[in-house]
Amino acid sequence: MTETKPRARLVSTGRFNPDRVMTNQEMESLVETNDEWIRSRTGIRERRIADKDTHASTMAAAAGSVALGRAGLEPADVDLILLSTATPDRLLPSTACDVQALLGARNAGAYDFATACSGFLYGLSMAEAHVTAGQAETVLVLATEKMSSIVDWTDRTTCVLFGDGAGAAVVQRANGDGRGILSGYMKSDGTLAELLWRPGGGARIPLDIMVLDERSHYVKMAGPEVFKSAVRAMCEAAETALRRAGVTAEEIDLLVPHQANMRIIEATAKYAGIPMDRVFVNVDRYGNMSSASIPVALDEAVEQGRAGPGSLVLMVAFGAGFTWAANVVRL
Ligand SMILES: CC(C)(COP(=O)(O)OP(=O)(O)OC[C@H]1O[C@@H](n2cnc3c(N)ncnc32)[C@H](O)[C@@H]1OP(=O)(O)O)[C@@H](O)C(=O)NCCC(=O)NCCS
Repeated sequence: MTETKPRARLVSTGRFNPDRVMTNQEMESLVETNDEWIRSRTGIRERRIADKDTHASTMAAAAGSVALGRAGLEPADVDLILLSTATPDRLLPSTACDVQALLGARNAGAYDFATACSGFLYGLSMAEAHVTAGQAETVLVLATEKMSSIVDWTDRTTCVLFGDGAGAAVVQRANGDGRGILSGYMKSDGTLAELLWRPGGGARIPLDIMVLDERSHYVKMAGPEVFKSAVRAMCEAAETALRRAGVTAEEIDLLVPHQANMRIIEATAKYAGIPMDRVFVNVDRYGNMSSASIPVALDEAVEQGRAGPGSLVLMVAFGAGFTWAANVVRL
C-alpha cells in the first residue's frame, strides 16, 4: 500500500478539564447504582464536573490557548475557529463566537457544528477542507462539552456515563514532510436519531412546563442499541480510514478511540487488529466527554510520550445522530 500525501497537518493540541473529580462512590448517593456496576459495564471510575462558572466556551478557550501557545501562535493568527459541542452556552449566538471573544481572536471567522461525539474528527476534516481550499491558513478546532448540564441526574442509565472537558488542535497546511491528515471518513444515519437524543427544549418542542415535567430536555439513551451500533460503526470507520490512508493496522502506532465505554473500545481495537498496548484509554478517569474525549485523549497521549512527531495515529468516533468518523494522522 502507498501512504497518502497529507494536505493539512495537526500543529499542536491542548486540553482543559475541570479540577472537580466525581467518583463512582459519589454517584451512589445520587442514584441507585454502585462502583462495581459502573466499572464492570463501562470501565469508568471517575469523571470531571464543571462548576457553575465554567462553561463550554471557557473550557474551549482554555484548551485553545494551550494549543495556540504550543504552536507559538497568538489568537490574532487564527483565521477560523471551528467548535464542536452538544452543550452550547446559549442557543444563539454560537459558542464559537463566545470563544472568539474570550481569546481575542480578532481576525477569525467562527462557527459551531453539532455532530456529537464524532465532533472533533468532523472538525479535523472541515479544517483540512478550509485549509486546502485556501480559505484559512490557521484553523483552531475545538471540542467542548459540559455534559453535566444536560444529563438527568435522576436517571442512573445515563448520568453515570458522562463528564466535562474540552480539547483543541491547531491545523495548518501540510509542509511536504509527510506529516498530517492522511485520511478522513464521515458518516451518519439520522433514522436512528431517537436512540440518543434530547427530545424537548429545541424549536420543535420549545421549553415549557410540560418539557420540564417530563424531563425531556435531558439526554435520553437506549444504551444497548447504541452500544451495538457504536461497535459496528467504529469498526467500519476504522477499516475505511486505514484503507483511504494507504496504511495497515500493523503500522498504526496508537489507536485513539472515542471514550464512551471500555467494552466498545476493546471491541473496536480487536476488530481493527490493534493490540490494547497500542490503544489509548482514559475513559476510567473522565467518562464520556462526547466530542471532547478524543482531543483530550490525544493531548494526554502526546504528553505521556505514547505518540509524538512522526507517530501514525488512528482516531475513530461514534455518537448521537448517529454520526461516526475516523481519521489517520501522521503527527
Ligand atoms: C449504557 C450501558 C453502559 C449499559 O450497559 P448494559 O450492559 O447494556 O446494561 P443494560 O442497559 O442492559 O442494563 C442492565 C441492567 O443494569 C441496570 N442499570 C442500568 N444503569 C445502571 C446503573 N448506573 N447502576 C446499576 N444498574 C444499572 C439496568 O436497569 C438493567 O437492569 P435490569 O436488567 O433489571 O433491567 C451500555 O449499554 C453502553 O455503554 N451503551 C453505549 C453507550 C454509549 O456509547 N453512548 C454514547 C455513544 S457516544
